[in-house]
Amino acid sequence: MTATNHVPTAADSGASATERFKADKPTGVANTPKERVDLLAREMLDAMHATIRRHNVTYDEFNALKAWLIGVGEAGEWPLFLDVWVEHVVEQVATEHRQGNKGTIEGPYYVPGAPEQGDRGVVPMRENEPGTLLTWTGRVTSVDGRALAGAQVELWHADADGLYSQFAPGIPEWNLRGTFTAGADGRFEIRTIRPAPYQIPTDGPCGKLIAAAGWHAWRPAHLHVKVSAPGHELLTAQLYFPGDEHNEDDIASAVKPELMLAPEPAGDGEIVGYDFVLDPVPA
Ligand code: DHB
Ligand code: FE
Repeated sequence: MTATNHVPTAADSGASATERFKADKPTGVANTPKERVDLLAREMLDAMHATIRRHNVTYDEFNALKAWLIGVGEAGEWPLFLDVWVEHVVEQVATEHRQGNKGTIEGPYYVPGAPEQGDRGVVPMRENEPGTLLTWTGRVTSVDGRALAGAQVELWHADADGLYSQFAPGIPEWNLRGTFTAGADGRFEIRTIRPAPYQIPTDGPCGKLIAAAGWHAWRPAHLHVKVSAPGHELLTAQLYFPGDEHNEDDIASAVKPELMLAPEPAGDGEIVGYDFVLDPVPA
């Protein structure tokens, strides 16, 4: 996480994402009953065994897999791998019941505690931060229509080069990361820049898998948010921009039609409206 001027590498962002995960996330395997561990581990292994049988997987392929898995760990790319290829299904299952906003995956680059900006303001950015200015106005309400004054909107996103502060070197700590607090009527106004499409690191083991399988490494441009209010379920979402060539084939399968913004040109930038409806925590 030190600010140097070398080019970003998979090992930089992988090591930072692994460190961040260990610092912030509960990893409570100890609280999972053994019956459930047994069930889930067995079914996942069964699925792997079935694939090996169906396709006559060879020892060469098995050893290539072993070497690759070792490499994923060494490069710190487990958060990347799981967030790109697995998290979207976990998210779907976790939020299926909601009546309010649809969310999507968190990805590996959230950092709690971004600087407070009040109910309207500019996200921390460098002087001459490259990119089109984007002014976003929105409102946070509960599913019954009640304004959620004091709701928090945490925003983080990549810069115009597709890089995230604290994960790529040489970017100020909180660049393009801010926490907004909705005013009395649940409203907020955020000024930032439009992020660029993001390519997951191609120089590490996940990049090797992508190349070996003939896939591409792109995610469409997106704004990440976490929206929270007392008594309501946390909403983790991403917002996308129409016309991005990777909206239809996101490597992380995280785009949903409800998450598409509709920005319009205004002055020397763009304006956009997007509101959030939060579900109360079930009684
Ligand atoms: C990854 C990066 C993202 O910015 C994101 O939103 C989801 C996944 C990744 O590199 O794994
Ligand atoms: Fe992202």
